[in-house]
Amino acid sequence: MPLNMSGKWFNVVSYGLNAQEAIDYEAMEQKAHETRPKLIIAGASAYSLEIDFARFAKVAKDVGAIFMVDMAHYAGLIAGGVYPNPVPHADVVTSTTHKSLRGPRAGFILMKAEHEKAINSAVFPGLQGGPLMHIIAAKAIAFKEALQPEFKQYAQQVKQNAQVVAETLTERGLRIVSGGTQSHVMLVDLRPKGITGKDAEAVLGSAHMTINKNAIPNDPEKPMVTSGVRIGTPAMTTRGFKEAEARATAHLVADVLDNPRDEANLAAVREKVAKLTKAFPVYG
Ligand SMILES: Cc1ncc(COP(=O)(O)O)c(C=O)c1O
Repeated sequence: MPLNMSGKWFNVVSYGLNAQEAIDYEAMEQKAHETRPKLIIAGASAYSLEIDFARFAKVAKDVGAIFMVDMAHYAGLIAGGVYPNPVPHADVVTSTTHKSLRGPRAGFILMKAEHEKAINSAVFPGLQGGPLMHIIAAKAIAFKEALQPEFKQYAQQVKQNAQVVAETLTERGLRIVSGGTQSHVMLVDLRPKGITGKDAEAVLGSAHMTINKNAIPNDPEKPMVTSGVRIGTPAMTTRGFKEAEARATAHLVADVLDNPRDEANLAAVREKVAKLTKAFPVYG
């Protein structure tokens, strides 16, 4: 992002998606050979498909670049063994702990031994502020939870629930970017329903469903408006939702989007949301 410090310090060259809305690995490879980057980064905030980390690693090796993966979104699925693991392929792997890994808002860096000194000294004395001990404790708990056999089941269920949500929204006339999901997340193209991401976020919110707007590939709308929403299943799965509840949730989303200006419709959905969530209390 050009306005972020990283965008000011570094010359960033992007790769993109092909006509099927999957990462265009050929174009990425070609760009890498043309620009000879020092670092190649893989990772995403709204990409539903599996990423071919081995392929990125090979390109990085061919052009003499360090290969870094930001696995923040997928970390919990990776820990649960249901998404490809970048660690064997990357020189450096960064992650947050608060997405699918289900921990506190925090992060961590894994690196090959040869990068340890450079990264450690960039963190301290380079960047680090005061440690937040409660967050460090919460990270320890999250890592312990991710090591339990139940976490594998959780990760599997997150993925199954995402598939059910994607299928149901497709049945209801929405379009899932990239043709579906192989992870916990999906990007929904709202154009078939003639509503923007900004408006969908607001009406879904008024029906008590928190969903954030998100740009879709080649989005005709402005970044603050967008034509899409991003939906993920880690939170509903933590709550105890299985396929039936995931399907019901997707139907509620579609019910709102089919009739977003009808107050009676929104009130009816709100009631169903309350009934569903009451059956799965956050604190049981
Ligand atoms: C892929 C990816 N990496 C890292 C982050 C950083 O997370 P945060 O903004 O919470 O530090 C995000 C943000 O949501 C993300 O999507």
